[in-house]
Amino acid sequence: MFPVMTMAGNNASSSLIFKLVILNLVCCLLASSFDSGNDGRKVYIVYLGNKREDTASTPSHHMRMLEETIGSTFAPEALLHSYKRSFNGFVVRLTEEEAQKISAKDGVVSVFPNEKKHPHTTRSWDFMGFTTNVPRVKQVESDIVVGVLDTGIWPESPSFSDVGYGPPPAKWKGTCQASTNFRCNKKIIGARAYRSDNNFPPEDFKSPRDSEGHGTHTASTVAGGLVSQASLFGLALGTARGGVPSARIAVYKVCWSDGCEDADILAAFDDAIADGVDIISLSVGGNEPKFYFNDSIAIGAFHSMKNGILTSNSAGNDGPDFLTVRNFSPWSLSVAASSIDRKLVSKVQLGNNNIFQGYTINTFDLQGKHYPLIYAGHAPNISGGFSGSSSRYCSKNSVDRNLVKGKILVCDSILSPSTFASLSSAVGVVMNNAGVKDNARSYPLPSSYLTRAAGNHVKNYIGSNNFPTATIFKSNEVNDTAAPIVVSFSSRGPNPETYDILKPDLTAPGVEILAAWAPIAPVSSGIKDSRTTLYNIISGTSMSCPHATAAAVYVKTFHPTWSPAAIKSALMTTAIPLNVELNPQAEFAYGAGHIDPLKAMNPGLIYDANETDYVNFLCGQGYSTAMVRRLTGDGSVCTAANSGRVWDLNYPSFALSTTPSESINQFFTRTLTNVGSEASTYTSKILGAPEGLTITVDPPVLSFNGIGHKESFTLTIGGTISQSIVSASVVWSDGSHNVRSPITIYIVNKA
Ligand SMILES: *[C@@H]1O[C@H](CO)[C@@H](O)[C@H](O)[C@H]1NC(C)=O
Ligand SMILES: *[C@@H]1O[C@H](CO)[C@@H](O)[C@H](O)[C@H]1NC(C)=O
Ligand SMILES: *[C@@H]1O[C@H](CO)[C@@H](O)[C@H](O)[C@H]1NC(C)=O
Ligand SMILES: *[C@@H]1O[C@H](CO)[C@@H](O)[C@H](O)[C@H]1NC(C)=O
Repeated sequence: MFPVMTMAGNNASSSLIFKLVILNLVCCLLASSFDSGNDGRKVYIVYLGNKREDTASTPSHHMRMLEETIGSTFAPEALLHSYKRSFNGFVVRLTEEEAQKISAKDGVVSVFPNEKKHPHTTRSWDFMGFTTNVPRVKQVESDIVVGVLDTGIWPESPSFSDVGYGPPPAKWKGTCQASTNFRCNKKIIGARAYRSDNNFPPEDFKSPRDSEGHGTHTASTVAGGLVSQASLFGLALGTARGGVPSARIAVYKVCWSDGCEDADILAAFDDAIADGVDIISLSVGGNEPKFYFNDSIAIGAFHSMKNGILTSNSAGNDGPDFLTVRNFSPWSLSVAASSIDRKLVSKVQLGNNNIFQGYTINTFDLQGKHYPLIYAGHAPNISGGFSGSSSRYCSKNSVDRNLVKGKILVCDSILSPSTFASLSSAVGVVMNNAGVKDNARSYPLPSSYLTRAAGNHVKNYIGSNNFPTATIFKSNEVNDTAAPIVVSFSSRGPNPETYDILKPDLTAPGVEILAAWAPIAPVSSGIKDSRTTLYNIISGTSMSCPHATAAAVYVKTFHPTWSPAAIKSALMTTAIPLNVELNPQAEFAYGAGHIDPLKAMNPGLIYDANETDYVNFLCGQGYSTAMVRRLTGDGSVCTAANSGRVWDLNYPSFALSTTPSESINQFFTRTLTNVGSEASTYTSKILGAPEGLTITVDPPVLSFNGIGHKESFTLTIGGTISQSIVSASVVWSDGSHNVRSPITIYIVNKA
């Protein structure tokens, strides 16, 4: 897995029906595992379900189990890590045959290869109306511990100053892996680093210290303190702050420069739950969708949910195609990314004084000085075997370094920062033919990317002038009044494993977010970037996830006893609906809508759910009794009676998949819990029911006679749809609270 920062999204959008067919193939192939040795052994995770009563003897239990399978000679060196504090399992090096042998043993829930995942401000909180003056329960907030599973942290960042903090809350059981290189403080109260294969990349610190910047950015977005005058070389200047600036941070470093391994993610969950974190924020995802039971994040999140801890996840950066969402388990929160109203642009001025607005994060200031302008198609690296028809795209080595030296280069493509290595003799780069321009990136040289029309102007200008020149201005901010719009790279639903549970759940700011940075990490991911900064501007669902985490913590400070599902419901039913015209994939882009933390504090009613509800749902999904039993640790069985229908999981949104021309007739049951005023009457309303469909609610009015009182209703959808996705919503209103859930009906080819 890898941190979920973005690369520019691609524009291709294929039909949903087509994608579903593809997915059916992808999901059934065994993903190749990560090879970590030359003896034919690979790292596997053997998952044994609930934690054992006697945690002290758990590792020797694992060793015995292993000795029985692979013999006592290899077992001691094969066993890499034992999970014992919050659940039961171990990490082990095995051959494929040994892995099969162990998976047949009694008590083994599953054996899966250790694979890699990737890690997928300032203005953003004000943009949501979440100002520095919102009501807070400061003492409660400072007793909340946010577990951040990421690339570590830069503890000296001003965002993590501990001035004014008391000792850690009494419940805290975590530790700090302090060393000469790393110390915690009263703000960062815990820090651990995981690398179960001991194969530390040389460029990383062997400690919880962050060398990537990603973990520092996400942690400060959740809980960074107020730092005035923060900026990236003057850009996005303002007060940087986390959503819950008084909360404490516990760091679990699971990601390194080469990715994030499942074994380490699970080890971090095992510790974080036992350490006493209040919420887990995890901006990491895998390349392929996985079943709930063999995805390390889904498993970790299930155990955290059982322990009353919400896991907030990034939905992934593989959009805008359908079915690209990751981290879609119903017991976790899946967060999409959308824009804010502060947009960064970078202008290009030609020698004829024409100015074009482009999009990049350009911190470099050429002081308005003009440089010779050259089209890359006119500068091929002939000795390298390139011609103008390939050099125009500026791919690696295609452009003659000598010809572009000291000039501003015009390329017919959007480049990744690392491509700039072979362009480093140029003064600046103008990229044109830009596809999607809804998120700006940093590059190691002055740069801008232009629309195709502007790019054509530039090329015409070059063609009609003997001495063309240009300059690129440092970026400036413009007001994007269309925001929020879900950004193109944000992964889209539907949920690949359960078509009729809507994912992602909601969206939050994830475009051009300023937050704290590790000063040793490059500003752009390009090489030869000599700039260092304490604050950086990056985009990704990695950035939106910690916004949602903070909003969840904010809700929890007012309602400390609420379950993970209740907090999630509060965030979803108060979310602001987004414009379907601007977001054509509708709820598969934004879920319930854009988070509104202030409203979420007082939702009126909630859709609650607990472990039993999720187990019934899993039974209904067809998982075996044996698997469910190991997960719950009790004697529950999947029977006809508890095999819940998907449509009855008490989820705060409604999704229904259908096939072309099928006549729809489906009901959903839900239960609402009153958390608003003592006695209240709510009336339901269906908004935007599409033509051809009838959506009814029974009973249409619900009366609650006290806090905690529950009432159930049935929502029925009948009719047919002609479009591939149609949207409506159901709103329960008592006159002051509007409890809204999206309803999405869509066509898939289920064959
Ligand atoms: C994942 O779990 C499913 C059952 O849920 C199983 O059929 C499949 O083989 C597992 N895949 C891997 C890679 O372990
Ligand atoms: C953008 O304009 C809107 C409406 O005019 C305003 O409310 C908002 O504060 C502006 N945003 C910025 C970043 O200036
Ligand atoms: C041309 O490309 C080759 C590699 O194909 C590279 O080694 C060489 O430096 C390039 N020459 C120039 C002048 O850019
Ligand atoms: C979950 O909630 C239901 C009622 O909604 C209750 O019957 C059940 O005992 C609860 N289960 C757990 C594990 O708390």
